[in-house]
Amino acid sequence: MWRWILGSSTAVLAISLSVGAWRAGAVGASPSTCAGCHPEQVSAWSGSRHAAAFHNEAFQVSWSRTESAWCEDCHADTSREDGIACRSCHGDGARLKGDHPSLRARLAHPIRHDPALTSERTCERCHQFSLPQPGTLTSGVHPLPIAETPSQDTVGEWRASAAASRGRTCITCHDPHEAPGAHDHDFVRSALEVEAHYDGVRVTATVRARDAAHAVPTGDPFRRIELMICGPTPCETPLASAVLERRRRAQGEDWAVVSDTRIPVASAERSAERTFVLTPEAPLPPGARWRLVYRFPEPDLEERLSRSDRYFVIDQGTLVPGAQDVL
Ligand code: HEC
Ligand code: HEC
Ligand code: HEC
Ligand code: HEC
Ligand code: HEC
Repeated sequence: MWRWILGSSTAVLAISLSVGAWRAGAVGASPSTCAGCHPEQVSAWSGSRHAAAFHNEAFQVSWSRTESAWCEDCHADTSREDGIACRSCHGDGARLKGDHPSLRARLAHPIRHDPALTSERTCERCHQFSLPQPGTLTSGVHPLPIAETPSQDTVGEWRASAAASRGRTCITCHDPHEAPGAHDHDFVRSALEVEAHYDGVRVTATVRARDAAHAVPTGDPFRRIELMICGPTPCETPLASAVLERRRRAQGEDWAVVSDTRIPVASAERSAERTFVLTPEAPLPPGARWRLVYRFPEPDLEERLSRSDRYFVIDQGTLVPGAQDVL
């Protein structure tokens, strides 16, 4: 009896493995080959910045200055058309990486449990890196010499966070298929808050990250958040302002960080907030307000980009009560 059960389960396993192997043919390199069975993940991914990482306007404008193949290592990881896609994180159809694949999953395609899939390691090869050394990107030198200081340090920042030590990984906050980030305005709004007040001379404002496990803004060094003090009219020229950013400068073979005014990551020693004291030249008029703005691109590319790739207003509020508040 036991021999029979054992024998038949071995047979079921053998059949399932061979069905899986046969199915591998149905699971090709492109996300369209997954869409029939995983419509939810494919649809979330197709609206993501990952899917458009090569052909989106912001990248194209920036890339047109160098057209360096180095950029394609990440932005066109699977292809120029699909950018960062299923294969970037799950590997290829020959043996997919899953979290805890069910028997159904194993029947459908060759797939194995990979404990690293849900960890930061899935994101690290693209979200933690240094730029080529100053002046080398278009030099034709191969392989490119890489600078020491990270250009994007998101995983490094996360490692120093209290959230990381509590086991909160990148995908706790960023669904890996939709990958919401700064282009998802509500996502950013729900994570930041501002407390500001005016004493007749100075504005004291604290910008706080409620729930981020890295510096804010993180990612590319040209991401900036600007805190502006504005009159009651639209805020073309602020009365005073402060910028949350990480500035770098070419220094020999490195891109050294010369200042960092971003919201730091919360750790045992400090909380995730930064306070600015701003002194406008003249007393603020009635209806004056603060405004927090997220700026995406390098300043010299702004003119060539559409509004949604340049900035968005995260939040704003009144500093001096006035009769004609204008939003
Ligand atoms: C940026 C990395 C990344 C990309 C790109 C990606 N996945 Fe995933 N996927 C993951 C991670 C991480 C998990 C595990 C999620 C979990 O356990 O919470 C996962 C889980 C899944 C699951 C299990 C169900 C679920 O949603 O948790 C399916 C099915 C899946 N992915 C299919 C796809 C398909 C199809 C594509 C391409 C359209 C794709 N994935 C692209 C990282 C990615
Ligand atoms: C013929 C249908 C079919 C195709 C095509 C298919 N899958 Fe699946 N896949 C399944 C089924 C069925 C499951 C199991 C779902 C469950 O357990 O609820 C699964 C599960 C998964 C899981 C989850 C494993 C886990 O840990 O839970 C991942 C990841 C996955 N597939 C990735 C892909 C990717 C990437 C592609 C395209 C390259 C793809 N699949 C194509 C049917 C398919
Ligand atoms: C506790 C929640 C949380 C965790 C964990 C987390 N993030 Fe974030 N992340 C956020 C929030 C909130 C924002 C929006 C604010 C900002 O842009 O910094 C964000 C923004 C981002 C951005 C967008 C930057 C941009 O310029 O668009 C990237 C990229 C990113 N995170 C990557 C990661 C990676 C990689 C990890 C893991 C190492 C991670 N995040 C872990 C909450 C989190
Ligand atoms: C193969 C490289 C690669 C991998 C792997 C990868 N990313 Fe990305 N990610 C990118 C690139 C490139 C962009 C910028 C796309 C663009 O041009 O807007 C990006 C953008 C993002 C953004 C910003 C979205 C926004 O709204 O601005 C978030 C958040 C993000 N990735 C999270 C993750 C997480 C979480 C993981 C791991 C589960 C991951 N990524 C894995 C390359 C990658
Ligand atoms: C090692 C991986 C990697 C390489 C190489 C790389 N990038 Fe990126 N790039 C990223 C990631 C990750 C993000 C998302 C970070 C964020 O959202 O702040 C990004 C974001 C961008 C963005 C912002 C797009 C947007 O949605 O606003 C531009 C523009 C960009 N990269 C241009 C380039 C150019 C040009 C090159 C080559 C000179 C390059 N990148 C090389 C990983 C890479």
